[in-house]
Amino acid sequence: MATIDDLGDLRGKRVLVRSDLNVPLDGGTITDDGRIRASLPTIQQLTDKGARVVVVAHLGRPKGEPDPQYSLAPVAERLGELLGDEVAFAGDTVGDSARATVDGLADGQVALLENVRFNKGETSKDEAERSAFAEELAALADAFVSDGFGVVHRKQASVYDVAKLLPHAMGGLVAAEVDVLKRLTEQLDRPYAVVLGGSKVSDKLGVIDNLLGKADRLLVGGGMVFTFLKAQGHEVGSSLLEEDQVEVCREYLQRAEDSGVDLVLPTDIVVAPEFKADAPATVVAADAMPADQMGLDIGPESAKAFAAALADARTVFWNGPMGVFEFEAFSAGTRAVAQALTEVDGLSVVGGGDSAAAVRKLGFDEAAFGHISTGGGASLEYLEGKQLPGIDVLAD
Ligand code: 3PG
Repeated sequence: MATIDDLGDLRGKRVLVRSDLNVPLDGGTITDDGRIRASLPTIQQLTDKGARVVVVAHLGRPKGEPDPQYSLAPVAERLGELLGDEVAFAGDTVGDSARATVDGLADGQVALLENVRFNKGETSKDEAERSAFAEELAALADAFVSDGFGVVHRKQASVYDVAKLLPHAMGGLVAAEVDVLKRLTEQLDRPYAVVLGGSKVSDKLGVIDNLLGKADRLLVGGGMVFTFLKAQGHEVGSSLLEEDQVEVCREYLQRAEDSGVDLVLPTDIVVAPEFKADAPATVVAADAMPADQMGLDIGPESAKAFAAALADARTVFWNGPMGVFEFEAFSAGTRAVAQALTEVDGLSVVGGGDSAAAVRKLGFDEAAFGHISTGGGASLEYLEGKQLPGIDVLAD
């Protein structure tokens, strides 16, 4: 696959870079800028080459039209601070503002276009509508660099269709992410342990399915664990529950037993009467949850057991927090898993999204992990064995 160096002399050339700048915001304040920082090396590599860099990105899931709460304006400001140079911000993606902003760039300067998902064509399922929008994006540039690993599983105009219209290359971030994921699928050092959390088991069905044939140990926590506990016949109170997945979880439990995969579930749970930072927390046995309480974290005994199950693993992949880590009282399970990953003698991978944000919020040194991915959904789909359109398209 072509790299940026294969694009030849870029001085004075307009290069469209798809980055994943989908960062969490609290009002207009960025609460975790990890993805912005991860996008810097590629942008800087291009500015060093004298390119006029046009960054295209999304924020959240607006409905194909402008919606101020999803504006990338705060991201442009932060990107400028981190680059140490002003980033010109276009008030639209392919309209008059975008054209004028790109025309105003000097060699080595950077512009960010407004949220690409403010345009219906970006996420359209209609190929013609998507390609028409991709043509407008392509008209802004002479070459395309795909560097938004978090979106390579999306068949969207700025990820997929535009690559067909311009000379293209894979950015260093995507290349590095794919290298690590290859090590998880092709050159595994065992024991291989996977920790899954997060709120919904329905988001992880494909990956669990696949891992039941590959991992030695599968540890489950987070909101999704209550559907597993229910499948074992336990009361889960008012915890998150996906009734329609209970039967699927029952099958997974059976398959794990049949295939010798050690499926580790928590034995104790931190419960509270409501979803609030200062709700009174109690630890109860996982098979004795009170009907009027909800589970908000794995308990201390489980945290120890999870850490022990990771201690001698040579490869660990973790996706999804163990509890509501944003609330101090329910963050201990996530902290224990993160800590255990830092102690792995081998490859430890934090699989993007919330778990990556959790690691930073809980104050861990990022260098203590083998790799912190910028893509949650993208890394899960890779591990599921799915084709990723944003990567496949770069091969042509
Ligand atoms: C993410 O947050 O995982 C990526 O930015 C992709 O966002 P999406 O799930 O809205 O496509």
